[in-house]
Amino acid sequence: DEIYLNGLGGIVPEYPLTHPELEAAAHAAMPASVRSYVAGGAGDERTQRANVTAFDGWGLVPRMFVGAAQRDLSVDLFGIPLPSPLFMAPIGVLGICAQDGHGDLATARAAARTGVPMVASTLSSDPMEDVAAALGQTPGFFQLYTPTDRELAESLVRRAEKSGFKAIVVTLDTWITGWRPRDLATANFPQLRGHCLANYTSDPVFRAQLAREPEEDMGAAVLRWTQIFGNPLTWDDLPWLRSITSLPLIVKGLCHPDDVRRARDGGVDGVYCSNHGGRQANGGLPALDALPGVVEAADGLPVLFDSGIRSGADVVKAVALGASAVGIGRPYAYGLALGGTDGVTHVLRSVLAEADLIMAVDGYPSLADLTPDALRRVG
Ligand code: FNR
Repeated sequence: DEIYLNGLGGIVPEYPLTHPELEAAAHAAMPASVRSYVAGGAGDERTQRANVTAFDGWGLVPRMFVGAAQRDLSVDLFGIPLPSPLFMAPIGVLGICAQDGHGDLATARAAARTGVPMVASTLSSDPMEDVAAALGQTPGFFQLYTPTDRELAESLVRRAEKSGFKAIVVTLDTWITGWRPRDLATANFPQLRGHCLANYTSDPVFRAQLAREPEEDMGAAVLRWTQIFGNPLTWDDLPWLRSITSLPLIVKGLCHPDDVRRARDGGVDGVYCSNHGGRQANGGLPALDALPGVVEAADGLPVLFDSGIRSGADVVKAVALGASAVGIGRPYAYGLALGGTDGVTHVLRSVLAEADLIMAVDGYPSLADLTPDALRRVG
């Protein structure tokens, strides 16, 4: 409403309203090394592009005489009431997208303003306790990159619980960094490392380890102690992961129905279908194409989804294909780079406004109305 009313009053929005314009403006504003990190993906980025274009393969069929004057986008996820299915996917090293280096806090404040939950990354520029405080009443989930050291992993989870995060999201697809030519070409890793260690350097277990064996370089110490990207978990680790938290446990990166069934049997509370926005392995199936199989195998367990969401229309389509909640990644990082908390808020509200208006115009007043029958294959 606000954007329409401003338009009637001749007031031009401060930030772009379409993804291509948002992306172009953010790319122009970012230094090359930051742009490579945020915009880049694995290999020649075909999977990353296919994640986005996969949405063109589906069209929503409008329904008439519905009278969808009121829409209800609310969702209950693990007993947590949410105003809409939209959430912010975990993004590490967010500090490099913010003028003052505190990208996680700026993002959390946008979550507080909009009610859109944030999944806070392990690799944050701000300690999780500060991120949780900045979220206000809006729920946050903590994303765990599982360190090799189990004591440290358990400490991170304990801190997340104590800070008030409402679920633990364990990312499985990034125990090693994928082949990312843009990052390699700009050699930006030293810069990134300076912005992602706050949760380690503030951790009592990590600090005790460090005190026992002092290191010159904190960054090197973190990598050695945590082996952030060196812990390829197996199914044998799932009972341990399940045992270290009483919060809802979600596993991120599942695309194969057999993996979903096995995770379900292993006691997870939700599965998160994602290919990490095409950043990890090129040549993969677009995440959207994996979604229906994941939903079927989940057999009623909540399914979170991300990879390729660029608009409200995309959110509506993912929900119609069975997603319980839908995450965006790069778009909010671009909002952050352009306008801090205001920029992220703008991106979230634009996506939500479009989703809401599509549900109005096309006659799907609630998320329950959005079933696979609402969609047809294009072409
Ligand atoms: C990510 N992603 C990610 N995932 C995760 O579990 N922990 C993390 O720290 C990060 N870090 C990260 C950094 C950047 C710059 C990006 C773009 C992505 C993956 C993220 O959660 C999500 O899966 C994808 O971003 C979704 O794809 P789109 O929306 O970017 O296409």
